[in-house]
Amino acid sequence: MTIEKLALKKATDIQNPSSSVSLLMIEDSPQDQKIIENVILNGPMDISITTVTTGEEGLQLVGKYHFDIILLNYSLPRMDGLKFLSFMKKMGYNIPTIMITEHGNERIAVQAMKIGVYDYINKCGEYLPKLNLVIQRALEQHEISIQQEELKERTSYINKRLQQEKQKFENIVSAIGAGLVIIDKNFRIIWANRTMEEWFRSTFDQNLEGMPCHVLFQQGEKICEKCALKKIFKTGVIQGKNFQTGVIQRLKHSMTNRDGERRHYQFTSTPLVDIHGKINQVLCLIQDISHQIDMQLKLIQSEKLAAIGELASGLAHQLNNPLVGILNYAQLLQRKIKPDEPNRELLDTVERGARQCKDIVGNLLNFSRPHHFNYEVLDLRNILDNTLILIENRLKIKNIIIIIDIVNSLPLIEGNSTQLQQVFLNILMNSLQAMPEGGEIKISANSVYRHKQGYCMVKLSDSGAGIPESIKDKIFDPFFTTKDQDQGTGLGLSIAYGIIKAHNGKIEVKSVKGKGTTFILTFPIARQNDNY
Ligand SMILES: Nc1ncnc2c1ncn2[C@@H]1O[C@H](COP(=O)(O)OP(=O)(O)O)[C@@H](O)[C@H]1O
Ligand SMILES: [Mg+2]
Repeated sequence: MTIEKLALKKATDIQNPSSSVSLLMIEDSPQDQKIIENVILNGPMDISITTVTTGEEGLQLVGKYHFDIILLNYSLPRMDGLKFLSFMKKMGYNIPTIMITEHGNERIAVQAMKIGVYDYINKCGEYLPKLNLVIQRALEQHEISIQQEELKERTSYINKRLQQEKQKFENIVSAIGAGLVIIDKNFRIIWANRTMEEWFRSTFDQNLEGMPCHVLFQQGEKICEKCALKKIFKTGVIQGKNFQTGVIQRLKHSMTNRDGERRHYQFTSTPLVDIHGKINQVLCLIQDISHQIDMQLKLIQSEKLAAIGELASGLAHQLNNPLVGILNYAQLLQRKIKPDEPNRELLDTVERGARQCKDIVGNLLNFSRPHHFNYEVLDLRNILDNTLILIENRLKIKNIIIIIDIVNSLPLIEGNSTQLQQVFLNILMNSLQAMPEGGEIKISANSVYRHKQGYCMVKLSDSGAGIPESIKDKIFDPFFTTKDQDQGTGLGLSIAYGIIKAHNGKIEVKSVKGKGTTFILTFPIARQNDNY
C-alpha cells in the first residue's frame, strides 16, 4: 500500500474496527520486501501492509497513522533498527515490533528483545514459513500485555478505593463513641476499635487484639462460667432463638477502665455469619452506661430521701417541743435535788435519756430541712482541724492515734463550713465506734484533676472493724444501722451523703472486714483557684 492510500485506509478502519491488521514494514531491500509481502498476503491473516525503506520514514508514519504491528529490519541505512526502536519508545508509542536480522546477528536480536521487541526473525533459509506464526504470536502477546496493564490499573484503583473505604469505616466505628470488638471461636479478640483501645489499653498494657476475651472482660484465665458466646458458637442460637432472626444478646457488666475506675458497660453481641452460613465470630458492642446507672441511683436516692425527709421532719417537729420541755425541767430539777439525795440518780437518767432524744431529733431536723445554707470559699484543712478539736477528748480516752497528711497547696473549695464539719464529724464518729479497742485514724487531703476539673480529695481511714460487703450499698440509707439503739440512729452517713451531694461532691467507701474502712470524699475546687 502506498503512503497516499493510507489516509483512506485509516478512515475505513474507524468505520470498521474489525477490519484487517495494519502492518508497517521497514525494509530497505526491494527483493526482501517482495518476498515478505508475498508470504504475508498468502498467509492465514487479513493483513494490510505499508512499506517504507528507512527508519526516519517509519517514525513519520508511526506519528501519523495507526499500526497494529511493525516488521523492522535491523540493518537499515543511517538509523538502524535499534535506534528506530528507542526513538519510537521515546515518542511514547507502544507498537508490537518484530525485528528481522541478518544471519549471524543474534546478539543484536537479544539486545533488541531487551529494548522491547516482541520477537525476532533471522533471514536464513527457513525463516519465511515461520513469519506468519511469529506475527500472530506477537499480536496475541501484545493483546495479553494490554489486558494485563488494564487489569493492573483496575486492581490499583480497587485497592485505592478499598483503602478509602477502610479509612471511612475506621472513622465511623471510632466516632460512634462505643467500644466494638470481634471475638473468634477461640475466644480471642481479633479486632477492637479505637474506643476500646482508649478505654482499656493501659489497663492491660498490651494490645487488645489477640487477647482472650475472658481476660479483658473478667480478668480470668479460663473461659467465663456463664459464657454466652460458647453457646452461640456451638449451636448458632442465642437465648433459644435462631441467630437468623437477628436476635441479639444484651448483658450488663462492670469493668475497671484505664483510670482504675469501676464503670458499668452494656454488651450487645451479634453473631457474624460467614459465607457458608456458619457463626465463627461475634461482634460485641460495648456501651458505657455508668452515667445512666449513676443517674438512676441518684434518682432512687433522692426520692427515698425526700419521702423519708418528709416523714422525719413531721415527727421531729412534733417531738421537739415536748422533748425540750422534758429536758429543761429535768435540768431544773437537777439543780434543786442535791447529788447525794436518793432520787437524784433517777433524775440523772431521765436527763441523759432526754438529751439523747434531743440529739436524735436534732439530727432528724438537720436531715429533713431543705438545705439553704450560705456557701463560701473555704479551706478544708481548717474544717478538719475544727472537727478534730471537737472529738479530741474521745480520741484520747479511746487510745486512738491520728495521722494527718494534708498537702500544703490544698486548693480551696466552695461550701458551707458547718455542714462540712457535720460530714467529717459523722464519719469520724463512726470510725471511733468501729475501734472500741483503739487504733489509728489517718486523714489525708490532696488535689486531683479529672475530666478537665480540679478536685479536693479527702481520705478518712480507720483501722476498725470494717464494713461487710453485704451491707456496703446500704450504709448511706437513712436509718440503716448495725448499732444498738443508744449507739446509732442510722442517719450519720445519709446526712453526710446529702450534704456532699449538695456540694457537687462525691463520697465513696472502701473497706476490708477486720482491717478498716476508708471514706473518700471529693469536692470540686473553687473557681478562684487560679492554678487549676
Ligand atoms: N468506719 C466504719 N467502720 C465500720 N462500719 C461503719 C463505718 N462507718 C459506717 N459504718 C457502718 O455504716 C452504718 C451506718 O452508719 P451511719 O449512717 O453513720 O449510722 P450509725 O452510725 O448511726 O449506725 C453503721 O451502722 C455501720 O454499720
Ligand atoms: Mg454514725
